[in-house]
Amino acid sequence: MHPNMICEELHSALRTIAAKYAQDQICVVMDEEVAGKGKSIVESRWNVLCMPVSEEDKSLETVQRIWDFLFAHGITRRGLLICIGGGVLTDIGGFAAATYKRGVDYLNVPTTLLAMIDASSGGKTGINYGGLKNSIGCFDPPVETLICPDWLKSLPANQWLSGFGEMLKTGLVSESALWYQLLQYDLEKMDSEALKPLIAQCVAAKKRIVEADPKEEGLRKVLNFGHTFGHALEEISIQKSDVSSPPLLHGYAVVYGMIAELYLSVVKLRCPKEPLQQLTQVMLHYYGKPQCKCSDREALVALMQQDKKNERTAQINCTLIQDIGLPLINQVITPEEAHEALEYLFSL
Ligand code: GLY
Repeated sequence: MHPNMICEELHSALRTIAAKYAQDQICVVMDEEVAGKGKSIVESRWNVLCMPVSEEDKSLETVQRIWDFLFAHGITRRGLLICIGGGVLTDIGGFAAATYKRGVDYLNVPTTLLAMIDASSGGKTGINYGGLKNSIGCFDPPVETLICPDWLKSLPANQWLSGFGEMLKTGLVSESALWYQLLQYDLEKMDSEALKPLIAQCVAAKKRIVEADPKEEGLRKVLNFGHTFGHALEEISIQKSDVSSPPLLHGYAVVYGMIAELYLSVVKLRCPKEPLQQLTQVMLHYYGKPQCKCSDREALVALMQQDKKNERTAQINCTLIQDIGLPLINQVITPEEAHEALEYLFSL
């Protein structure tokens, strides 16, 4: 295969959907890192904006840049914004589309494993604001999410691991058969063909949950397993990052968050110890221990108390599990319990 060619099915699915729109009403926003492959699926008549995309770019300025681009090309409410990139890009692009002229259609083409599994489907869009991740945003589903695992062939190992972290979460909250298949997957090989059926199962599991509860009023909160601790770890690692200590990738933070939340699941809900032991092995083998720069317990608990998932101010709210595939939402934990779980995580 030519290194700049990606799966034919993606190209043809994209053309089929795009044919429903006036071609001069189609805009593409694309992560410049995937522009080589990305341009091979973009029609010459479409308007393309390539831009750098990192967590720091998940800001109002970037959204303004996309709004300006849409205005500059005279896009009306009948237009389409195609977002090609990882989860940061699809979150920002989706938010720009959801708010432009009160909403224009958008379509996601996720290029990272994390975006394929989680960010690009389900309609959560947004930006970071006030030092908090995803604190401004809205629910607005894309017209379609086109997943092509061929993108993964050029994905760095840490991005594979980050996406796989969300797959592990999906296994733990949905069904033990998927969890055990994920444990058997040989991450060392990073074989995208072998991963395809597992991606399909994770995407289907998320779809079932989101269809039942699109606005996260109840059931969808199961997808937040690992994220109460994970978001705090990720946030602190961003605040304390420097050249020698880059921020934690989202899926790594979720794996560490799941260890803390599995510990609480064992202690508070009598969840069997096996999933905690199994995930600990996966963590030590592939992800390594959490960086020490994210281990400030007081700051982590303070961040968890501000989490947007909390129903009451300063009350920490988690999803825990009673067993694999048996999640329990709205579990309130005390600051002391949060400290205990962090002690456990940092003792490994
Ligand atoms: N990332 C979790 C969700 O989409 O609900």
